Amino acid sequence: MANSSVLIVCLGNICRSPLAEAAFRQAAQDQGIALEVDSAGTANYHQGNPPDPRAIKVAKAQGLDISAYRARQVQAEDFTRFDHILAADQDVLNSLQSTIPAGATAKLALLLDHVPGRKGQPVSDPYYGEDKDFERCWLQVFESARIWLTKT
Ligand code: 4NP
Repeated sequence: MANSSVLIVCLGNICRSPLAEAAFRQAAQDQGIALEVDSAGTANYHQGNPPDPRAIKVAKAQGLDISAYRARQVQAEDFTRFDHILAADQDVLNSLQSTIPAGATAKLALLLDHVPGRKGQPVSDPYYGEDKDFERCWLQVFESARIWLTKT
């Protein structure tokens, strides 16, 4: 969808959603689509922090520098500022749905809902995992981005 905007949300905004933000930016550029992209967390544990070093490393292997990204918590205005809000898993989606402000216009969905065979499934949280879990996360979010941009 040209001239659209998407906010990607996970729990901490240091692992899954920064990788997804980078993936959506890259996929939009690859497909020549104008897209405003941002990411945020439902929690504020890591407010102002850069992404997890393992996420930075996985992005770097794709030629993408996410080291200047900074974590932030979802704000009420995000629900009107963005056309779409994509949640990394059901817990995150439930948190978002429980805090939807009056007048919200953003469409909420899971990040993998539009990926064939993945509707309702989470992007597994690599935070307690290893490098290979971050690599798998990258593959999941990049596939999501590529397909979302062709469908939305
Ligand atoms: P994220 O991963 O939601 O993908 O950024 C996590 C980051 C931090 C924590 C949990 C998940 N934490 O508990 O601090």
